[in-house]
Amino acid sequence: MEFTFQVPTEIIVGQGCIRKNAEKFSQFGKKALVVKSASAEKNGSLADILHALREQGIEGKVLDSVPANPTPEDVQALCGYAPEFSFVVAVGGGSAIDAAKGVAVLAANDVPPSAMYDKSYRNTPLPVIAVPTTCGTGSEVTAVSVLTVGESKQSFSSPDLLPKAAFLDAGYLKTLPMRVMLDTALDALSHSVEAYLLADSWSNDMIAEQAFRNFAKYKEALERREFTDEDRALMLYTATLGGIAIYVGGTSAVHTMGYPITVLKDIPHGRACALTLGEYIGFVYDANKEKVDTMCKLLQVDGIRGFQEMLKGLIGETAVYTEEEIRGFVEIAAEAAMKKKNAKPITREDIFALYCKALCPQK
Ligand SMILES: [Fe+2]
Repeated sequence: MEFTFQVPTEIIVGQGCIRKNAEKFSQFGKKALVVKSASAEKNGSLADILHALREQGIEGKVLDSVPANPTPEDVQALCGYAPEFSFVVAVGGGSAIDAAKGVAVLAANDVPPSAMYDKSYRNTPLPVIAVPTTCGTGSEVTAVSVLTVGESKQSFSSPDLLPKAAFLDAGYLKTLPMRVMLDTALDALSHSVEAYLLADSWSNDMIAEQAFRNFAKYKEALERREFTDEDRALMLYTATLGGIAIYVGGTSAVHTMGYPITVLKDIPHGRACALTLGEYIGFVYDANKEKVDTMCKLLQVDGIRGFQEMLKGLIGETAVYTEEEIRGFVEIAAEAAMKKKNAKPITREDIFALYCKALCPQK
């Protein structure tokens, strides 16, 4: 047994937590860049952040809204080199928080966006404070940023990019469109499941198992498409648990296989992952029966079949792809997917078969 478990992000949870804890911002300096999703005005999060910054005598510069699935070039276009700023506030879903991590690098370093990946920058990225406003990403507690590069997604990471603080106020979820609630909840579930079933996952078992227990509590609300304030609060917290699970353990082939579906077919990230998650669980079952059974029990689903049925219900209608399209996904995803610490070794042929079962079930 050998592992390190450290989650340094300060996690502040509760209604109104930004205004109640405005002084937390003051330790990072007097000039902040605010990187936001387009929804940050509507859900009230931006107003709370600007209020807290003003109260602390901090100047906040609000950048243009981050587009969905941003590229490194999109990140550079947001701000670029801006050494007069001392920290970054990220507010929104995964795209905004991941873009903010890039902004944190590029604002502190006069370098091209490729430097985020090859780490050819010298100055420490600006500190990041994260305010997630969806219930999926987990990026508020990870050191990783995942951006769209070509036909897939590529990540860069650094311990410096781990947000210093994460504010979780479920009130911001109230205005989230139903489809985004479902898709991001699927992303969070996928994080916990994937991390739980990695080859050497037990360092985060306690986190993932608690996420499964929580999920069981709001599963019916997801199925009904109706949420109480308590459901939203638990969903946001559970998404952060999923983030901790992947921060400690990582994701599996499922995430890698989801990337081309998102980039080429414009399927939101969480739903794209969920599309192959059910078949993946069936694939790894013989290598990890005990944990899959425990997971299904905690999620309160009737075995693998019950898990797959639940996913189908939450995913809703899906497109069916041709074998040629699937071969394209395999081409993009296979190499990276095979390198993950999957519960059992996975080959290119396995990946093709998983995609086919999930995306063209008549084959
Ligand atoms: Fe994800």
